[in-house]
Amino acid sequence: MCGIFGYIGFREAAPLLIDGLRRLEYRGYDSAGLAVHNGGLEVHKCIGRVDELAAIVPSNMSGMTGIAHTRWATHGKVTDANAHPHTSEDGSVAIVHNGIIENSRALRNWLMAEGVLLRSDTDSEVIAHLVQRARADGLSPVDSVRRALSHTRGTWGLCAVFSDEDIIICASNGSALVVGIGDGETYVASDQQSLTAHTKRVIILNDGDIAELTAGDVQTGRLDGGVSGAQITTIDESWGEAELGDYPHYMLKEIHEQPEALRQCISGRTVLADGNAKLGGLDLTPQELQAIPHVRLIGCGTALHACQVGRLAIERLARVPALAHVASEFRSNDPVIDPAALHFAVSQSGETADTLSAVKEIQLKNARVMGVINVVGSSIARQCGQGVYIHSGPEQAVASTKAFSNMVAALTLFALQIGRARSLTREPGVKLVKALEALPDQIEDYLANQGPLSEAVEAVQDAKIVLFLGRGPSAPVAREGALKLMEVAYIPCLAYPAGEMKHGPIALLEEGSPVVVIAPNDKFKQKTVSNIQECRARGAKIILIHEEGDDISEEADISISVGSTDPMLSPLLTVIPLQLLAYQTGLAKGCDVDKPRNLAKSVTVE
Ligand code: M6R
Repeated sequence: MCGIFGYIGFREAAPLLIDGLRRLEYRGYDSAGLAVHNGGLEVHKCIGRVDELAAIVPSNMSGMTGIAHTRWATHGKVTDANAHPHTSEDGSVAIVHNGIIENSRALRNWLMAEGVLLRSDTDSEVIAHLVQRARADGLSPVDSVRRALSHTRGTWGLCAVFSDEDIIICASNGSALVVGIGDGETYVASDQQSLTAHTKRVIILNDGDIAELTAGDVQTGRLDGGVSGAQITTIDESWGEAELGDYPHYMLKEIHEQPEALRQCISGRTVLADGNAKLGGLDLTPQELQAIPHVRLIGCGTALHACQVGRLAIERLARVPALAHVASEFRSNDPVIDPAALHFAVSQSGETADTLSAVKEIQLKNARVMGVINVVGSSIARQCGQGVYIHSGPEQAVASTKAFSNMVAALTLFALQIGRARSLTREPGVKLVKALEALPDQIEDYLANQGPLSEAVEAVQDAKIVLFLGRGPSAPVAREGALKLMEVAYIPCLAYPAGEMKHGPIALLEEGSPVVVIAPNDKFKQKTVSNIQECRARGAKIILIHEEGDDISEEADISISVGSTDPMLSPLLTVIPLQLLAYQTGLAKGCDVDKPRNLAKSVTVE
């Protein structure tokens, strides 16, 4: 989603801004722009990729202070005029903004009534005009931003530059901004990963903070004039490279990183001798684990599917009721929250606005919520204050892959820990730990021998619709496979628990309809076989994901086998061919697999 990068220092800003935007490209965007202070303010912006912006920025553009933005359209179409930065009428103020100004319609009407000419359809532009009016009343840059934001309602990660002062003013509220501290240089970005090439010393702004950046200094404060609690911290080293290396696409790289990512996630967290797990970040005693009446897991998209697997593991191993919730529905349904219950907010980016708002709702109602997060120091991780980092390493492709596996692994570790604190005995715990520790090698084995995926690609690539079916832990895997194929190859997909298929989706089946069935060798398999037969009887073509050596393969038109594992862990193996099916089908259809249309990596608006 929208990205911000800013620089003030002693080097030419434009190339640094373009490089910063390139590091934010993975978030997904449709237009890009920058503003540089060089006596006045010079602004360039256009729809399309950062490369297209780079092509219109003059190579001799000078100026050592600037702000830049990648926009993912919310208010107003994808046009040059709607791209950021937005400027005041007189060109003396330029702003970039992430988030949504909820009362922008009223502010636009008021500004127009005052005779101000609005040049875009965005909610953000009003901020530039409000800041400029405050400047005209004699306020300093920081106070003019303060006054402008006192009129707005909504969320912002905001940066402003001025034609008459060499300074960047930043403010954050519900949309992340991180200030990077260099030597005589200061940076700001919406994403700390884009700063690591320059500095590891950062200040993460809190909601309601405002900051004045100059080349050698950062002053932070509160919008209401108070003192900010924001501190300088050091970005933790995480394993893995954010660069593409020898892979043609990030999605393929990240699929292949899953064995190592999984090792990183479980390392030091399993206790084989006790058949237990230890998630230190949760800081929960066995007594506290025993007292939890129920667990709720909250996430969006792929994270939601991981929650759905996780909830089954928790119920199975700990015999505690567990539910998975769609984050975007959570707060608005005014949920009944039991303060004794445990909640998990699951997110790769840690910036997903829907999940963040659910966290705030739970906290408001006085209950505990733990993060299950990949990006260290992200907004959700900080808001939760406690939790588990999943250690997937940087995930750049919009389609999430390795984060899914590590979310499932982390939640399974929790299920084991709470299970052992309650009724689960040592022996099944030991078996599960052994199975978990064997998984990275099993994923490697599958990646080395992927089966007839090209036949599966051929079967789905021109389909009107692809049906995905699974039971038990394979039902969320079916949803995840459908989501991947839909977002990467733009094929309509429907995922159903296999037994539910006969209650409706079966009507879609005709001769040759592709149906992807996930059927590991678990207690659900025999019933799934009946559903396969119901599909075959209607002419469907079955693409079957199953365990090696299982004679269920006879039910398949295209049979893809993975290794054999504990039934609770099967999602970690069966999801891999589905990720590859989506990737290869996307490629076959000529899609931009790393940056599918309309999608964003970090979805920072509700
Ligand atoms: O960063 P998060 O895990 O919170 O993101 C949640 C979803 O936006 C994300 O999983 C999305 O569905 C992906 N594009 C799926 O591949």
